[in-house]
Amino acid sequence: MIIAKRGTLPTTPHTEFYYIPGVLSLEEIHGSFGFSGPWSRKMHVRKYPTEVKAAPKVSSFHLIPQESDDKTLHPYLIHTGDIPYEGNALSARHCLMWGPSTKIGVIKVKESFPQNKFFRNGEGHEIFFVQEGEGVLSSEYGELPFRKNHYVIVPKGTTYRIDLKSEKLWLLTVESKFLIEWPPHYMNTSGQALMVAPIVETEVSLPELTAPVDQEGEFLVYVQHNGGHLTEMVMGHHPFDVCGWEGALYPYTFDISKHHGIARAIHSAPPAHQTFQSGQAPYFGFSICSFVGQPEGWDPRDVAAPYAHFNVDSDEMMFFSNVNYGARKSVLREGTMTFHPSACPHSPHGNAAEKSLADRGKMSDRLAVMLDTFFEPLKVTSFAEKYADKGYSTSWFKAREALTLSA
Ligand SMILES: [Fe+2]
Repeated sequence: MIIAKRGTLPTTPHTEFYYIPGVLSLEEIHGSFGFSGPWSRKMHVRKYPTEVKAAPKVSSFHLIPQESDDKTLHPYLIHTGDIPYEGNALSARHCLMWGPSTKIGVIKVKESFPQNKFFRNGEGHEIFFVQEGEGVLSSEYGELPFRKNHYVIVPKGTTYRIDLKSEKLWLLTVESKFLIEWPPHYMNTSGQALMVAPIVETEVSLPELTAPVDQEGEFLVYVQHNGGHLTEMVMGHHPFDVCGWEGALYPYTFDISKHHGIARAIHSAPPAHQTFQSGQAPYFGFSICSFVGQPEGWDPRDVAAPYAHFNVDSDEMMFFSNVNYGARKSVLREGTMTFHPSACPHSPHGNAAEKSLADRGKMSDRLAVMLDTFFEPLKVTSFAEKYADKGYSTSWFKAREALTLSA
């Protein structure tokens, strides 16, 4: 990631610095991989981020996933559009599926965080995809505006709040134990995106650091830890008391339309569409792909629809931002999510392959986000079950049967 700098801090780490005359500024390292991974350095104008005012206590709510009673193996079609908008972006976080290192969910809310309340994910790096609405993610790193079609990347340990700038906000949320980065195979040995990569790191937007908030009072930080437990920590000063920071670990946004798709004369498999990676492929973590509009294969005999596939080491989640994904048009609504466990294959429906012959060489108008885990089976929550289409398992058979009957 690009090494960035915002605000004012001394050039040499851990040296004397006074943002407020006569008051020693205090340094903090926000690091990963035990001081060996990406890190950032922040200067607090007066106090340490450790200065908790009251004994920590268990929160009145938690974010621990509740497993569905249905333990059979089957694919899922979940209409996240049916989930109501309610509550605020702090407490109304709904997990849909999760595993030992990955959690996938949605936030659909009408309210900003309550005043002087903050969230810190102490166990997961986060990436949001904005399906609807706009807002600002404020953190020690500054203010980061986001809007529809943005990815919002938030490193583990960032203290932040989300304020809405629209009536409603709908986010797809992903959490990972591991860093969420650009795919290493699209980077050169200096950590710069290759010229053939679908992503260009100069197209990201970073937070803008505003004046440090040098304020005393009661500021409540909800810290997530140990599988979704929440602990409330009351700080005696505002957590955004930073006059400057620099480093390679910080929140940023990336517009999915800036993912520059790679097309071929024949169908392009998902690795051509990869935007992010978490963990170490192919052993653990996941990849995230962006399916944006691009020319379908132009080979005179290309079949634009994907093949049936059986990726035995990956559980696959797809989030359909619009309904224009050719392979699954018949079952989609905006915000539909599919979940295909690794143990059974999935495919386009009915005569999608035959119909796609007419799309050869044409621009597609799709918009979807896909997450493939590496060797990590996910469980589905009882919350997700409420919005699942119970007929999805047999939908391929029924689509074929309907064609036969109409022939
Ligand atoms: Fe798939």
